[in-house]
Amino acid sequence: MSSALLLALLGITRPLPGVRALNCHWGIAQTVRNVSEQPFQWKTSQQNCGEGLGCQETVIITQNEPLLYLLLIKGCTQAANQEARVTEHRAGPGLSITSYTRVCRENLCNDLSTSLPLWTPLPPTVPGSVRCPVCLSTEGCLSVPEMTCPAESSHCYNGVLHLTAGERPGGGVRARLKVQGCISQAGCNLLNGTQEIGPISLRETCSPEGVLTCYRGIILQMSPNLSRDPVKWSASREQQCNPGEVCQETLLLIDVGPRSILLGSKGCSQVRTQATSIHSRPPGVLVASYTRVCSSNYCNSAASSSVLINVLPRPAAPAPGHLQCPICLALGSCSQSSNVVTCPKGTSHCYKGEIFLQGGGLVSPVGIQGCVAHPSSTLLSRMKSIGVFDVTETREGVTEVGHPLIQSGAAPVPSLAWAVGLSLALWCGVPSLLTLFPHDP
Ligand SMILES: *[C@@H]1O[C@H](CO)[C@@H](O)[C@H](O)[C@H]1NC(C)=O
Ligand SMILES: *[C@@H]1O[C@H](CO)[C@@H](O)[C@H](O)[C@H]1NC(C)=O
Ligand SMILES: *[C@@H]1O[C@H](CO)[C@@H](O)[C@H](O)[C@H]1NC(C)=O
Repeated sequence: MSSALLLALLGITRPLPGVRALNCHWGIAQTVRNVSEQPFQWKTSQQNCGEGLGCQETVIITQNEPLLYLLLIKGCTQAANQEARVTEHRAGPGLSITSYTRVCRENLCNDLSTSLPLWTPLPPTVPGSVRCPVCLSTEGCLSVPEMTCPAESSHCYNGVLHLTAGERPGGGVRARLKVQGCISQAGCNLLNGTQEIGPISLRETCSPEGVLTCYRGIILQMSPNLSRDPVKWSASREQQCNPGEVCQETLLLIDVGPRSILLGSKGCSQVRTQATSIHSRPPGVLVASYTRVCSSNYCNSAASSSVLINVLPRPAAPAPGHLQCPICLALGSCSQSSNVVTCPKGTSHCYKGEIFLQGGGLVSPVGIQGCVAHPSSTLLSRMKSIGVFDVTETREGVTEVGHPLIQSGAAPVPSLAWAVGLSLALWCGVPSLLTLFPHDP
């Protein structure tokens, strides 16, 4: 039984007029498969090579039961002819690396179409006493299974193989393979000295012992009732921390009544304070936060916003009062014409201000208008940070019903002109959890 591999076509070059040149099989593929699917077979396209060039084919198989990684490159080469050769760079049991290489100069001579030459079914192994996490992935190694190692390979390996070939734009390989598994020696030496296989350069890096890995991601959600209805808060990406850092998870909830917003971040951090706080309580605007730090792998694993909303006061729906205030909650600034609502009983003033938030992969001003209980109310009591977020609150003024605008003595208003509008600074790459929300009308 064999599986067919579909190969990505890199491109076709046209033969130069008057030049006799070879046609070679041409293609490139990488895949992670179940070992039990071996041997594999593949189909490639063809390319016309320039004069003097030869055809090459290279197959690398990294085996880490129950999975294997296969990388295949065929095409033109300047290299000298070389008989088909199978090399065992690292012998099993446990992790193993085997390659097949060949260079030839006849039409379509690089015609290997199965992994059979590299396939040596391993004899049954005697299980030892050491157990290791086992992973083989081009993505990441979150929550991998532990397996009992064969007696001969009683060390755990944890590293990354970097495979590169062909720097030409549009044609090349740049693979990053995360590897965890059983090996016969300690240390960072899966490659056993191998630096090149055919056109492919290999390099490995290992995390030093004790490096902490944390979940990484941001959440940004705007919808009604976030202070009552929990939402999912998971992160599928991971981050390796620098020395001295810990894992953190931070949630900030702002609820002005008809609208609420939840901003959250998971990742590594030097911040070491943790707290669950209600910065501003109902009646009126609610601001609450949850911050946790911890120092074991993947410990920042809260899966929903219930970690915060379960500790919030749950008053019965407040009776309406007599005050009316504009209501707004916006990433960026509130427009001049916010909806006006009747405030709950117990509130006496309208609040208008902004919380500028920066850190943990997020940068955004949050414009806030709503009802508050005291004329001097600030929402954050001049706090400067909440978990991984640096926060700055600026209050614009206090409107008393039936009175002209009077300036609040508490907080002068620094210029935040540069912060108008939404800017989201994301960690290199796509955030793992970004919920899209409707814009403030
Ligand atoms: C690999 O294939 C075998 C046999 O088909 C199956 O029992 C096993 O669960 C598979 N393992 C993985 C990791 O997919
Ligand atoms: C490492 O490479 C050497 C020679 O290059 C070889 O003799 C040895 O068997 C290899 N070790 C393993 C564990 O494959
Ligand atoms: C929010 O809660 C109120 C009352 O508790 C309910 O009437 C409303 O439908 C909810 N809105 C959403 C979008 O769930």
